[in-house]
Amino acid sequence: MNFEKSFLSSKNLDDKAVVLRVDYNVPLEGETLLDDERLVRSIPTIEYILSKTNNLKILSHLGRPEEGEVIASEFTLAPIAKRLSELLDKEVTLVKSLEELKESKNLCMLENIRSFEGEKNNEDELSVALSQLGDIFIMDAFGTAHRKQASTFGIVNYIEEACFGLLIEEEIDALKKIVISPEKPLLGIIGGSKISTKINVIESLTNHCDWLIVGGALANTCYAAQGKNIGKSLFEPSYLEVAKKIIEHPQIVIPTFVVTSNGSEAREKSVNELSDEDVILDVGQQSVEAFSQYIDEANTIVWNGPLGKFEDDRFSKGTEGIAKKVAESNAMTIIGGGETLAAFSKIKMMDSVDYASTGGGAFLEYIELGSLPSLEIINQKNLGA
Ligand code: 3PG
Repeated sequence: MNFEKSFLSSKNLDDKAVVLRVDYNVPLEGETLLDDERLVRSIPTIEYILSKTNNLKILSHLGRPEEGEVIASEFTLAPIAKRLSELLDKEVTLVKSLEELKESKNLCMLENIRSFEGEKNNEDELSVALSQLGDIFIMDAFGTAHRKQASTFGIVNYIEEACFGLLIEEEIDALKKIVISPEKPLLGIIGGSKISTKINVIESLTNHCDWLIVGGALANTCYAAQGKNIGKSLFEPSYLEVAKKIIEHPQIVIPTFVVTSNGSEAREKSVNELSDEDVILDVGQQSVEAFSQYIDEANTIVWNGPLGKFEDDRFSKGTEGIAKKVAESNAMTIIGGGETLAAFSKIKMMDSVDYASTGGGAFLEYIELGSLPSLEIINQKNLGA
């Protein structure tokens, strides 16, 4: 898909009222942002807009609040507006209503868009009201571009003009290197806990990748499908048939050694020697060594999902070991998903990857489909379709 007609550089913003959708769905502890990466990555777009016009209205969601209710403290964007003001060195006014936002001619942010009636179901009434806030809609919420909601999708039908922000351009450019023109060999690494949430991307990656390492608890369902005893490990019984099909793909590589715990100490074992009491919690050092050959040979690596319970230091060695090897490799490396970024950040290797996507579900869906609903609707508007 050629998205160039939807790039920001093709639009004139001079003195226009701009509605910008960002994804500031970030982890918070009370009023403290535990990670402000998504804010930092939106700054180039905001600064670009502010160099053309002062009339900027920012929309974002945070979590999944009930619509139409007074915003509970865990869902307010107040700490986010404060941090954004610091990053921009400019006052960002947080407003509670669409009327206030419409009246404003300066840099403003609307309270959590998901607390407004009609957002989640993409209702026309809200989409129309959002479109009346400005002359042009700029979509820069890559992490939410897979959601067909009023502020990511519906608004495009009613507003005069629409385009992508610079972060979305950057994400498309990086992901092209996996889905359109990867420099081969391409190695995929998929971890996490559930096959059910990763099945589509696994199937799609088997079409693109030369090797696809499947680790984390989702490999447990594959072991169970092979008839192995996985003790008390987490797995998805209703996905055994799906797992059987997955392991038939010649590109699939599953760890043969894992770290287990039987409630006391952690031990590295072959997957053929697990006891009824074992719980698989990491891929372990021997698997790190076994996977090194693929990492060394690959020219492109894409990774989503941890390969063990990495937040517990006893079970983080596999994910960390592979992350170190990936970071040291000469391959073009692209990682995505909150937990994957957190794992790289834990070992202080974030700077060693070529690209870290701000998307979780959106990152996976883009790899699977090569586009996202919100990008499609904007592009069709610009192509006059
Ligand atoms: C994310 O963090 O993945 C995005 O903000 C999307 O959030 P959602 O899954 O609640 O739509």
